[in-house]
Amino acid sequence: MAFNLKGRHLLTLKDYSAQEIEFLLNLSIKLKQDKYSGIRAKNLDGKNIALLFEKASTRTRCAFVVACVDEGAHAEYLGIEDIQFGKKETVKDTARVLGRMFDGIQFRGYKHETVEELARYAGVPVWNGLTDKFHPTQALADLMTVMEYKGSLKGIKFAYVGDGRSNVANSLLVISSKMGLDFRIVTVESLFPEKHLVMEAEAWAAESGGEITFTQDVDHGVKGADVIYTDVWASMGEENKISERIKLLKPYQVNRAMIETTGNREVIFLHCLPSFHNTDTDMSKKNPDICEVTDEVFESKHSRVFDQAENRVHTIKAVMTATLG
Ligand code: CP
Ligand code: NVA
Repeated sequence: MAFNLKGRHLLTLKDYSAQEIEFLLNLSIKLKQDKYSGIRAKNLDGKNIALLFEKASTRTRCAFVVACVDEGAHAEYLGIEDIQFGKKETVKDTARVLGRMFDGIQFRGYKHETVEELARYAGVPVWNGLTDKFHPTQALADLMTVMEYKGSLKGIKFAYVGDGRSNVANSLLVISSKMGLDFRIVTVESLFPEKHLVMEAEAWAAESGGEITFTQDVDHGVKGADVIYTDVWASMGEENKISERIKLLKPYQVNRAMIETTGNREVIFLHCLPSFHNTDTDMSKKNPDICEVTDEVFESKHSRVFDQAENRVHTIKAVMTATLG
């Protein structure tokens, strides 16, 4: 079934129905097939897209740029240091200016309220490319990857292990409860997601037939899992929390023992990336205990992280083409 998402923002996915999410996932798979077949539909021919970044990015930035070029649009990167935004100009004025010049705006940054304000005043679709609270385009790529490897989302047991309050965990909670997954957040109680989001997710899961579990017990949380997912233990902007998080989350590191505990030889490992999985980065060299996943798992046959990274292009392309019409 086709859905008309023209003019819609994408801020959290909370306001998208299960059918609309399914439509976006199927469209992403089709756009990936088209790209592999050499079909360039140029669905965004002549459109201008603003890419506004307060925080660093590799995947999201590149996925938006490549998706724009594939579809015939022009992407303009606006780094926080390059423009007036935040220093001499308010969010509201920036939104109204960009909305007069561009057909769509991507925002990545700190406060979730900023992307909401951009959406309120821009007059064109605004897409959240990550805030402190949510990362919805990531969640779409994650479930697209699950569909590719598991055939469908039906009955999927999905264990998210680690920082249960991260933007990625929050968005996975939203999308999984809407799509009827058996979704578990496995972490210390102090890092369970916020109460009000849990209550919303429980209502969506009741409607979709999904199940949500919050547990501190790794064995219970990952048992039978089809997917093990983790994210860094301290997100961008939380660098001062690294030592505290290492202490809390060390028992939740994704390692070979955890993969074996699932009892599922076909379990796949996912990670939004960037990841600390060895001591080859500046940060992990300084702090070898920072690794949320071992190199052994990251590089194993279970790992699908680079398919997942590629799928950011196809899902972002689907979001832009569907909402720009
Ligand atoms: N997963 C993700 O959003 O990566 P970037 O921070 O590199 O965009
Ligand atoms: N939770 C991570 C995700 C990065 C894609 C962060 O916000 O840094």
